[in-house]
Order: sequence, then C-alpha cells, then structure tokens
Amino acid sequence: MVNKIIQKMESLLGFIHIPSRDRSVLVGDMKLPFDTKINGCKARIDEYGRLWSDCLRNKFPVGTKVEVVKANEGYSVFPVKTESEPISADLKQDLGVLTELSTQREDVRLPIIEPYFQTDSLCVLNEDVLKTEAISPNSIDLVVTSPPYGVDIKYETYDDGIPYTEYLDFTGKWLARCYDFVKDDGRLCLNIPLDKNKGGQQSVCADVTTIAKKVGWKYHSTMIWNEQNISRRTAWGSWLSASAPFVIAPVEVIVVLYKSAWRKKHRGKSDITREEFIEWTNGVWNFSGESKNRVGHPAPFPVELPRRCIKLFSFVGDAILDPFLGSGTTLVACLETDRIGIGVEINRAYCDLSIKRLKEHGVCQKRLLEIV
Ligand SMILES: C[S@@+](CC[C@H](N)C(=O)[O-])C[C@H]1O[C@@H](n2cnc3c(N)ncnc32)[C@H](O)[C@@H]1O
Repeated sequence: MVNKIIQKMESLLGFIHIPSRDRSVLVGDMKLPFDTKINGCKARIDEYGRLWSDCLRNKFPVGTKVEVVKANEGYSVFPVKTESEPISADLKQDLGVLTELSTQREDVRLPIIEPYFQTDSLCVLNEDVLKTEAISPNSIDLVVTSPPYGVDIKYETYDDGIPYTEYLDFTGKWLARCYDFVKDDGRLCLNIPLDKNKGGQQSVCADVTTIAKKVGWKYHSTMIWNEQNISRRTAWGSWLSASAPFVIAPVEVIVVLYKSAWRKKHRGKSDITREEFIEWTNGVWNFSGESKNRVGHPAPFPVELPRRCIKLFSFVGDAILDPFLGSGTTLVACLETDRIGIGVEINRAYCDLSIKRLKEHGVCQKRLLEIV
C-alpha cells in the first residue's frame, strides 16, 4: 500500500506518480512500462512509475490523500480520510461513480495519453488539438494562444496555405474544443492579425471573432499590439494613385473572450504590480516582436505577450493552455509566473524546441523522476 497526495497536474491529466522510494511495493520487479487496471478501468504504468488512467482525470481534488493498493487485477485507489480533511460527500459520490463507470467501461477502449514532456507544473503534448483526449472538459482557467494565421507560413507539419474558407472552418473547430476545455469562468486571449493581404484582403480579426461568438465564446475586449516593426514595405497597390492603394496597419490584436462569466467566482492570488496593471489595462500594447532566427520557429510571439495575458487575466497557480504551442513561449511565461502550463503542438520538432527552451530556463525533466 502506498499513500500519495494528489497534485494539480495529476488531477488535471489523470495520473498518480508513485513516489520512487515506494515503487517496489506496487511494481515489484515488473519491467516498466506495462498495461494494467485501476479500479477495474484500463490503465498503464509508464517508464517513470506514473500510473495513468482516463478514469483518474479530475476524480480526486488537488490535495486529496489517496491510498494505492495492489488488487486482484491491477490496482485500487481510494481517498484516505485524514483528521484535518474528512472525505467530502462529493468525493464519496465521485468514487462511487468512478467504480460504477469502471465496470461499465470494461469493454470500452480508453486512450491513455502520456505527455511528451511533463514536470510537476508543465506539460507538452505532441498532438493535434482537434483530436487530443488528454485535456479534461472544464479544467482550464485561461487559454493563451496564437493559432496559424493562414498566411502561408512554412510550418513543418501544418499547411498554412489552405483556402480562407477552410481556414475559418478549422478555426471554428479548435475554438469549440477550447470552449469545452475551459472552466465556466475560463478565458481566452487570442493573438491574431487584424487583417491580412497575402492571398487576398481578409478581415481576419472580425471573422475569427464572429466564429468564436457562434461557438459560444463571449466577447470582452481587444488589445492592439503594436510590434513597432518598421519593415520595408513593397506592396503599395497603386503608388501615388487613388486607383487601388493598399493600406495595412502594422499591428496584431489580442482578442479577449470568456466562457460564461467574466467575474471570477473565487478570489485567488494576483501577482500583477500597480504599474503593470495601469499600463496593461490601456489596450494599446507597445513591445517588440520575437526573432524567428533567434527562437528557431517561423512564427513565435515574444514571452512578453503571454506574460501580460497571464498576469492580467489569471491567478497564481491557475491552469493555462496553449493549443498551438509552437516553440513553447507560453510555457516559458507559465514558468516565470508560477502557473500550471499545458501546451499542445502537432509537430514533434517544435515540441523538442519547446523542451529545449524550458530547459534553458532551468526546467529539468529529471524533476519528473523526483516528484514525491
Ligand atoms: C503561430 S504558431 C505558434 C507560435 C507560438 N506562439 C510560439 O511562440 O512559438 C502555430 C503553431 O501551431 C501548430 N499547429 C498547427 N496545427 C495544429 C494542430 N491541429 N494542433 C496543434 N498544433 C498545431 C504549428 O505547428 C505551429 O507551431
């Protein structure tokens, strides 16, 4: 028998990290990884001794002390009553549901998704955001992201040159997924261009915002991000003539949306300073963009962008999701601001790049092995 206090990432993603000192009690000399069951539900112990199962996701509130024991078939896990923290009626009911579901779900194939990289507060999923099953509904406090812009950027995996109608169709699909992932008071900070002229003039911001509202998102406001990028302009349309001039605003936007209620139900700890609050609540943001060459990704945003969104719109310890992680910038910001960070990226090389950047910021995969 092994006791364990459930951590936030464990609850969110559905696993229990068996402390290494206790591993022999549960695993003996079995070679890791292997498939097993937990409370009768399909499960798997991975190479780091993490017991994964779909039925563990969001089942035990963070801080719950659980007991993991070897059962006839696989393992059983149940909460332990502590003097300071009696088992709540909800949790008892949850456990009942869990056992009931487990037996009902015997024949159902449940995916057990192990992250590509994970520490006690950060996680990289090498997956398609339209298909991932690793993120539970109603589990995310804030989504901060910059999706592909549909401007034919040369990504390794994603085709950014698809027709605009297809692009908007894809936009509706991922916005709907993120809507399901966020909590009732969850929010979305969406970095997109104001408009685009490559492949035809399009009002990207207006179109994407309209789709977001159709999906169910509520509109809050928009920040204008002035990248202060004085790039050489070549496309004038008709030079010095009213015939067909091109006008382009060299800015991007960050559209702020929310699920049901703008005001947070609970009071968490905010870490924004007085100066930051005054400056950032002015919706014209002036800071430089990020260099593609420096980061090694074709379209990175600077850490300043997710850092501002995170500090303005979430509490310390909240769960932040970037469904288009790219080079991992949002997770770097999560690390710097003490948030739980989950990133989804379809391309493996970009996942590796994210991990490299996180390691440069002091994150060590070894921590994974040391979690107790
Ligand atoms: C604009 S970039 C994000 C850049 C990121 N903000 C950064 O700072 O590096 C969009 C990313 O989305 C990824 N992507 C495209 N389609 C995806 C999908 N269906 N699921 C997950 N990632 C996807 C691309 O590979 C690309 O890295």
